Amino acid sequence: SIASNQYRTACHFQPPKNWMNDPNGPMHYNGVYHLFYQYNPYSVVAGNKSWGHSTSTDLINWTPQDPAIDRNKPYDINGCWSGSATILHGSKPVILYTGIDTEKRQVQNVAIPKNLSDPFLREWTKPDYNPIMEPIDGINASQFRDPMTAWHGSDGHWRVAVGAEIEGNGTAILYKSNDFVHWVRAASPLHTSRGSGMWECPDFYPVLSKGRQGLDTSENSRDVKHVLKMSLAETQSDHYMLGRYDLEKDVFVPDKTVDDYREWLRYDYGKFYASKTFFDEKKKRRILWSWLNESDSKADDLLKGWAGIQAVPRTIWLDSNGRQLVQWPVKELESLRRTGAHLHNTELKTGGLFEIKGVKASQANVEVDFELPNLEIAKPFDPSWLIDPPKLCRDEDASVQGGLGPFGLLILASPNLEEHTAVFFRVYKAHNRYRVLLCSDQRRSSLRPEVDKPAYGSFVDIDIKKEGKISLRTLIDHSVVESFAGGGRTCITARVYPEVLVTGDIHLYAFNNGTETIKVSKLQAWDMAKPWINVEGE
Ligand code: FRU
Repeated sequence: SIASNQYRTACHFQPPKNWMNDPNGPMHYNGVYHLFYQYNPYSVVAGNKSWGHSTSTDLINWTPQDPAIDRNKPYDINGCWSGSATILHGSKPVILYTGIDTEKRQVQNVAIPKNLSDPFLREWTKPDYNPIMEPIDGINASQFRDPMTAWHGSDGHWRVAVGAEIEGNGTAILYKSNDFVHWVRAASPLHTSRGSGMWECPDFYPVLSKGRQGLDTSENSRDVKHVLKMSLAETQSDHYMLGRYDLEKDVFVPDKTVDDYREWLRYDYGKFYASKTFFDEKKKRRILWSWLNESDSKADDLLKGWAGIQAVPRTIWLDSNGRQLVQWPVKELESLRRTGAHLHNTELKTGGLFEIKGVKASQANVEVDFELPNLEIAKPFDPSWLIDPPKLCRDEDASVQGGLGPFGLLILASPNLEEHTAVFFRVYKAHNRYRVLLCSDQRRSSLRPEVDKPAYGSFVDIDIKKEGKISLRTLIDHSVVESFAGGGRTCITARVYPEVLVTGDIHLYAFNNGTETIKVSKLQAWDMAKPWINVEGE
């Protein structure tokens, strides 16, 4: 039954029970990683938001701590909503978070560690000068939240921006301070877009133009680009723009202005929301966390006793072509790899279904390289498809034979394939290049009618002629499937609830439904060990 918890994940961050949403204030401090999260301590539905707290030394095993921030002051009595951590000079962490006050207004508050010598920073206090920002001077009191990690501007003073909506336009309102106590609103916001609605959980940080190394949030130089990310409340999707931070004017200037938010780049083209990055100064990388909501019914959540997980932490950097970001699960995740299946140079004939045996199909990591001997057979590309790739995935699912593709994986499959999640590619020929489509089709993932089963899709920006192959890495962990194509250039995350997870006879396949034989030049699959995530004990 659902209550048997076969949908509970093994390697993904989740609290033992109840409701979780956004990751909050992730940071690394004195050798310890902290993750806070939006948490309802009383129930499996959203409400009573406080900051849950866990700590880790490896980003894989997590120790539960008591909630760090609770609703107990006039300025947060109706909710301690999302926010971020900043490490001040002399190495003092500070949290900025949104409080819902006695009048249900959204205000911004500070919390600081009670005792800096506690390695786990278990207790946090709220200074008397809260709130530090209020919804005045034309700011809508119900659309003003989720302060970012702060950074230094050209005058050495602190800057921070808060998500908002002003007359239908998404915006990040900028504030300045020289003491982190008194904040003054800047004349211009950090950035505003026409339309798009409320920006939740905005994030702003520098990335190096070349290389994977991460940067501290305050860093800026000629070799740096800036990322502005916004979570669009209306579509529950995370988008970002690349551009530069104009230090003179104190604004973000996108490389190109695209008015239609549906054309903005996304971190992930599946289920992935309210994400937040932090700079890991221990390993000099920027790490991305994100909330993955459930796709089953509220009634199922009650039976499960929990709702909401976090995506595995991903390292994030700028692609060498400067056009987009790239993401890859943190290296530490590989420490969970156990026995596996390894194949080289295996042909996948047309109509071929190849079972990947020797791994636990509900808790596995797969990496595959597909080589395509004959690119000429690719079908012609229609540029109008760029507007709605998921439609293309729906119109031509994994069972529809194409030219080059569909080929990929059938995941969490029942013995007769009545249930399966299909993660697959199709390759098309445009006039001067090839176009690669990635689909994650959940429509047959479960026989249970109450589950939301969308098909996701996006194109992958790879030069297949030059690279000679298409790579896919997929993390399968019970009710979540995270896929990374082209080395992490396109990511799609899905939540799935197959009945076969409960009955137990689960299978994993590679398949090719194209018109010609392709080659799996390399396939590696591993069982994943279960780390300690928010369970007490050794
Ligand atoms: C995003 C969000 C934030 C808010 C929090 C409340 O999912 O709506 O804007 O601070 O969740 O839990």
